[in-house]
Amino acid sequence: MNTATMPIGVIDSGVGGLTSVAELRKLLPNEDIIYCGDNGNAPYGNRTGQNIVELTKRIFAFLEKQQVKAVAVACNTISSTFDSSEYGFYEKGLSFPVVSVIKPAVEDVLQKKYAEVGVVATVFTIKTGCHKQMIQARNPRISVYGEPSENLAELIEQGDLSSPAIQSDVKKHVNNLLSEHPNLQDIILGCTHYPIVQSVFEKAAPNVTFINPARDQAEAVKQLLHERNLLQKDHQGEMSIYTSGSEPVYHAVLAELGISPASKIHTVRF
Ligand code: DGL
Repeated sequence: MNTATMPIGVIDSGVGGLTSVAELRKLLPNEDIIYCGDNGNAPYGNRTGQNIVELTKRIFAFLEKQQVKAVAVACNTISSTFDSSEYGFYEKGLSFPVVSVIKPAVEDVLQKKYAEVGVVATVFTIKTGCHKQMIQARNPRISVYGEPSENLAELIEQGDLSSPAIQSDVKKHVNNLLSEHPNLQDIILGCTHYPIVQSVFEKAAPNVTFINPARDQAEAVKQLLHERNLLQKDHQGEMSIYTSGSEPVYHAVLAELGISPASKIHTVRF
């Protein structure tokens, strides 16, 4: 039986999900967070759906043992397996509810009634067409243009957030979208690693709004906990990080996102 004092789990293939943590900390400062980053197996975005499901199941099994009350899937690549009829069979049997990062972003796009929106994301996420399907199922008049990046999440995982390689990859993908769709004004950062370098995107296209879905996901988590009477009160929330990779990139990204240091970073195998 889940209770309010249990922690929230947040998962990603690596450090990208910290962009969701930044918003969760602001919106739900009383909540304890257990963050799982599978950096040892990142990037997920160039893997097969079956392989992504297998890796995700291991992280969920880990979080079952940690007794979390809900899990924010702060990874679009994992969320696109979750939200897909082809792969989304693993929700049954979990002891906690799961909040996708894609669904809240889709709701936001629908509410704002954009005529067209771009999505920059991993190869797998773009291949599933998840954002496009979910948006157009509700409003077929919104055009959705996908642009895959094979390398950007991995470059960010390397921890040098101002590297020329990141700048040129961002520029290439933004230019690909804008050269085909010159009037495009809104682009979803459809991989949670990308808002870590949001300023690089903004520099590449100053007239475009880059949408970071993290705030919408944090709102969705708050709503879920509220509905189930699971919001934690009168408590200073803490965060523990569990990674299958190495620690230094966490320090770089926590500092970049202005998140106060985790109480502990543990190295584990999921
Ligand atoms: N951060 C992840 C996402 O939102 C994926 C990065 C990766 O390819 O591992 O899709």
